[in-house]
Amino acid sequence: LTPNMKVLLLFGLVAVALCDHTRFEGEKVFRLKPVLDEHVTLIKELAKSIEVDFWRPESAKLVTIDIDVDIRVPAIYLDMVYTLLQQSDMELEVLIEDLQSAVEAEADLRPSPRAHSYTKYNSFDKVQSWIASISTSNSDLISKQTIGKSYEGRPMTVLKLGKKSSSTKPAIFMDCGIHAREWISPAFCQWFVKEALSTYGSDSQMTSLLNEMDVYVLPVFNVDGYDFTHNSNRMWRKTRSRKSGSSCIGADPNRNFDAGWCSMGASNNPCSDTFCGYSPESEIEVQNVANFIRKNRSVFKAYLTVHSYSQLLLFPYSYSYQLAADHSELMKVAEGASAALRSLYGTRYTSGPGATTIYPAAGGSDDWAYDLGVKYSYTFELRDTGRYGFLLPESQIKPTCEETMLAVKYIAAYVQKNL
Ligand code: ARG
Ligand code: ZN
Repeated sequence: LTPNMKVLLLFGLVAVALCDHTRFEGEKVFRLKPVLDEHVTLIKELAKSIEVDFWRPESAKLVTIDIDVDIRVPAIYLDMVYTLLQQSDMELEVLIEDLQSAVEAEADLRPSPRAHSYTKYNSFDKVQSWIASISTSNSDLISKQTIGKSYEGRPMTVLKLGKKSSSTKPAIFMDCGIHAREWISPAFCQWFVKEALSTYGSDSQMTSLLNEMDVYVLPVFNVDGYDFTHNSNRMWRKTRSRKSGSSCIGADPNRNFDAGWCSMGASNNPCSDTFCGYSPESEIEVQNVANFIRKNRSVFKAYLTVHSYSQLLLFPYSYSYQLAADHSELMKVAEGASAALRSLYGTRYTSGPGATTIYPAAGGSDDWAYDLGVKYSYTFELRDTGRYGFLLPESQIKPTCEETMLAVKYIAAYVQKNL
């Protein structure tokens, strides 16, 4: 080695050491189609013996016959997984050939990646400065408030949209980014705010909505997790809280609400991606949101929470197979909203109660808000159905947000009519 080469090598090593990015070279995402009990057993056994990341459903426990199971498998286990699956004769589809390439392909390099953009996946810092600037430049229609700080000390900022009024108006609460890796979700909340501000005064429905109601938007719920997916591990889902006694980090915020907490479809293992936490609302982010909604419980007429992926519009219950008292009305509104969404680009959504439409999973924000008295409580699972999964290319942000706007506006119009 020449001295020059030594210097270059040293720089390379330092760069690798400084960048703690998890990489996904050679990892694949498979779709398995279990049709026999043995297939289900095999998937569960696999999950026990090697580290498999469940994309859909969120854990091995939720796997049943006749559902699509999307899993991410590290490169070192591929041979073993192929052999086992071949022996079992289970149908298998490769959704993502090489995860690292898919991560790199997710971002569209135009416009300049430096600036905030509605058609890009913005980092937490960019979302924060966007919040600051948008709320000062439209102060007649929008204001911001911090509802608390995250485990790592980041602010959780809610934007309040609506014409100023001397009396308290009925309101809708919407959050995005409960799960860190579902990047299309915070992108939608940002899009919604922009659309609301830019169509107020010209679009009659938006004008009437913001005249008569307020819409509270929390663009990023899981702020620590979201930042972590941008800076360290793109596939992180949970919060980033730590507790002595376990080396595993974080809990699933959508299993941490006080709604049938940890009874089903959640894990009490701190290392699981669906860990329900040490107690209901043990996650400070969940506590902040729950306190804010509790404080304004009579004001909120609708609660919307945005996730990805699967193209679903879900409503309570997920902690029980029992139908909600308002089941038929919730179903009717969900079907109207799905039809509105589909009218733009033909994207098909399935609607129904969480427990039967996907799987039972307790501790979710939708069930909790509903039981608190917020009747129109919906969970969106945005695009797609698995072609890209969490790695939805930035070129799909615009169409996804446009069609989702129609569904959200449909629900809002219904709520407003039925105040
Ligand atoms: N994929 C979402 C989750 O697992 C679905 C949420 C549906 N609602 C619920 N309460 N589980 O968190
Ligand atoms: Zn989610």
